[in-house]
Amino acid sequence: MVRDCGLMAAVLSSVLQGAKSLVQHRRLHVTSVLEKAKTGAEHRWLARQNSDPYVKAAHRNNYRCRSAFKLLEIDEKYKILLPGHHVIDCGAAPGAWSQVAVEKVNSLGEDLKASFGFVIGLDLLHISPLEGAVLLSHSDVTDPVTQNKVIGLLPSGKADVILSDMAPNASGIREMDHQRLVSMCISLLDLSDRVLRPGGSFLCKLWDGSESNVIRDKLRQRFQDVRNVKPKASRTDSAETFLLARLHKKNPSSVP
Ligand SMILES: C[S@@+](CC[C@H](N)C(=O)[O-])C[C@H]1O[C@@H](n2cnc3c(N)ncnc32)[C@H](O)[C@@H]1O
Repeated sequence: MVRDCGLMAAVLSSVLQGAKSLVQHRRLHVTSVLEKAKTGAEHRWLARQNSDPYVKAAHRNNYRCRSAFKLLEIDEKYKILLPGHHVIDCGAAPGAWSQVAVEKVNSLGEDLKASFGFVIGLDLLHISPLEGAVLLSHSDVTDPVTQNKVIGLLPSGKADVILSDMAPNASGIREMDHQRLVSMCISLLDLSDRVLRPGGSFLCKLWDGSESNVIRDKLRQRFQDVRNVKPKASRTDSAETFLLARLHKKNPSSVP
């Protein structure tokens, strides 16, 4: 099933109650679900999904979620995922970013001439198995115990790239949701200080707001290049933006 990951759980949970068989199939029968949609918001969301070119492209390319195209677009421009890289994908469910990472870092070893990479994805939710990735379901990445586990699973204990498309369940109160997401991004900085190789990259989702500078400044202390990126696949009417930090500095442990 191709999903709009952020809104999916909130809107479809009520729609799909009593339609569990739909969840088990890879294809979402939009017509059938539309009939079950109860509210105007659900109808609007489903209609938008149905006409979204990225949802269609995700179906065609067998990506689990349209968000794959956000990462593909960012990577196309900045080349953060290279064969041989070791990647941590935080908030990985349903797994589209991990799918992209597996392809880009050659963790399946499909290109015999290139280095083999490694991908580890984790999420609070269940993540269906994905060839080429180690997945930790029901894991809170902000928990130091989970972070230690991730480090233990990384070959050599080091990573080249940390990805985070993590998002809390939105309350609808924009400033509060923004602050919660900023705190989640900040909690990843400890992990970044411990595992990222010099020269490594960090990409995190943010809902823009008053505290965006806090995380941006912390990243600037640790990385040589920090910028906002808004891929075309990210909806223009969404506060979603991404912070891309590249060229991890050599000695971030002295950073407050
Ligand atoms: C927008 S979705 C990610 C979509 C994913 N990048 C993909 O392409 O399939 C955000 C995810 O962040 C997860 N998440 C939120 N807080 C988390 C936490 N503390 N630890 C791990 N995952 C978390 C949610 O469960 C949700 O699945």
